[in-house]
Amino acid sequence: MIPVNEPLLARNTLKYVADCVRTGWISSAGSYIRKFEDEFARYLGVKHAVTTTSGTTALHLALAVLGLGPGDEVILPAQTMIAVPYAVSYTGAKPVILDVERDTFNLDPEKTREFLETGCRWDRRRKALINRATGGRVRAILPVHLYGHPCAMDELLALAEKYDLLVVEDAAEAHGALYYPGGDPKKARFCGSMGTMGCFSFYANKILTTGEGGMVVTDDDALAERARRLKDLAHAPGRRFLHTELAYNYRMTNVQAAIGLAQLEEIDRFIALKQKMAASYKRRLDHVAGLTLPMEKPWARNVYWMYAVVVEDEFGMSRDALAAALKRAGVDTRTFFIPVHRQPLYAKDKAFRGVHCPVSDELAEKGFYLPSGLALKPAQIKAVSEAVKAVKP
Ligand SMILES: Cc1ncc(COP(=O)(O)O)c(C=O)c1O
Repeated sequence: MIPVNEPLLARNTLKYVADCVRTGWISSAGSYIRKFEDEFARYLGVKHAVTTTSGTTALHLALAVLGLGPGDEVILPAQTMIAVPYAVSYTGAKPVILDVERDTFNLDPEKTREFLETGCRWDRRRKALINRATGGRVRAILPVHLYGHPCAMDELLALAEKYDLLVVEDAAEAHGALYYPGGDPKKARFCGSMGTMGCFSFYANKILTTGEGGMVVTDDDALAERARRLKDLAHAPGRRFLHTELAYNYRMTNVQAAIGLAQLEEIDRFIALKQKMAASYKRRLDHVAGLTLPMEKPWARNVYWMYAVVVEDEFGMSRDALAAALKRAGVDTRTFFIPVHRQPLYAKDKAFRGVHCPVSDELAEKGFYLPSGLALKPAQIKAVSEAVKAVKP
């Protein structure tokens, strides 16, 4: 079976991990943690990077640091991974679920503008933007750079500015993806570095992995400081084991950071591998009628975390039938996410009854991704492409 994902470990992995084991620094107190954080911040061009135990906890930590809580609402895309609404719910805030664009699969800035313009009102007394339908206070936008393609950040950042909203970017799937403000590559910014805070996952299938792990990044000194405190049980300043507020243990281990540092040294090579994979799939599948292949907007560098394909009606068989036929041919695939408003956990909540996200629904029915791991060989890409063509009616 050609797997959907197989990680590629960097050359220095064993050396750095052995160093942790040899010196006994296996908890979160070792030197690789700070080295990994500093190098990651340098790579992104941000002031601070704070390691966490996962992308999920990175998102939760960022939202907690920003003080989100009950009565607050956070705008997020319907077509996304469940950790995104979970992180909002952990804080007691509620998601505002909006639809995505058909081509990038990312939060639709037009739908966001429409919601802010017509679905909200400014309450002068409370100095707050109120969701007309729920009465909640809309505080933040959480754009998710899905499958490695950046969101339309110019539009989203302009809306955030206009409505005084926080922006927490989820770049879990978009390490090294670039956004060109105003369409100018000379102004390129890394995904995760443009919002108030940015979050990353280093799960084993990510472009840069630590096995399990995550990172929160920000340019704001006070937010970074607070993130460091909250991820480490919030000991009182100057008085260890004294606690005045609820906090978390979201500490990454030195061993994970050692793996991450080794990976970061080779991130350019990993991104080049992803782009080569995408170019190869495109060459082989571009002319197949009924397949919509991943795109790259002129204002973006897509890092093709996963090669996400939409099986259109014209293909002649459904996405599920194609996935089953590929499985029989020894090719593993994964479907797109089930939209947030379709998740029983959220669907049962009256607040989400009226949510209407037809694009996310359609993508959930027709989208899947082909094997896309960093360890994927050119011959395997060829075999996958041949299998797709062979089973097409
Ligand atoms: C978009 C997105 N956000 C958040 C996460 C959560 O990351 P983790 O699995 O490291 O908790 C993922 C994980 O795959 C993801 O794809």
